[in-house]
Amino acid sequence: MPPLEELKRQKTMLHRKKILTFSFIAFFISIGMAAVKSTQKERNLKVLPKDISDEKLDSIMQTYNKALGVKCNFCHVPLKGFTDSLDYFSEAEPMKENARNMMRMVININKTNFYFDSLQRPEYLNTITCKTCHRGEAFPPED
Ligand code: HEC
Ligand code: HEC
Repeated sequence: MPPLEELKRQKTMLHRKKILTFSFIAFFISIGMAAVKSTQKERNLKVLPKDISDEKLDSIMQTYNKALGVKCNFCHVPLKGFTDSLDYFSEAEPMKENARNMMRMVININKTNFYFDSLQRPEYLNTITCKTCHRGEAFPPED
């Protein structure tokens, strides 16, 4: 083969290799992005703001445990197939909807009576909290 033809052939091969490598990398990046996306699934929130941070959500849930003297499983059912995990998204535990009604009540009391800082979200006001009535009991006595 004449040198020029040989050179051209080698260049084409190199070019093909580059395209192949690039496609491989792009493919793996897209798989990675899909995996990350699937772990950030949509939250099932009807009362709290949808853009709530994980930290804020967690700290609010911790206050429920304390105020009611319960564990997370009081309102959340176990995740199928896992012994120590709860399915926080699920609606299977009716206590979750009861808690939502209480949350709406508390937000409403604070919004109506204690909303002095317009920069605050009404959902995050905490003059009246679950603890104000519950004091560590899931079913507070009536007097
Ligand atoms: C008194 C009931 C109650 C307790 C106890 C409770 N939760 Fe929740 N949790 C709720 C309710 C109600 C919602 C849905 C709120 C809404 O609709 O805005 C929720 C939502 C969540 C979510 C969001 C789920 C999603 O759809 O993405 C997470 C995560 C969560 N809770 C974690 C916890 C953890 C962790 C604990 C224990 C530290 C806990 N919860 C204890 C009532 C409770
Ligand atoms: C104004 C007082 C008050 C506040 C504030 C309050 N609760 Fe309650 N809650 C009660 C009373 C009283 C009961 C008992 C009702 C009964 O025995 O029928 C109760 C019962 C419950 C129950 C048991 C299920 C039911 O509906 O009876 C859950 C769950 C609950 N509260 C969650 C909460 C959460 C979560 C908060 C904070 C977001 C909260 N409560 C704030 C007074 C309050």
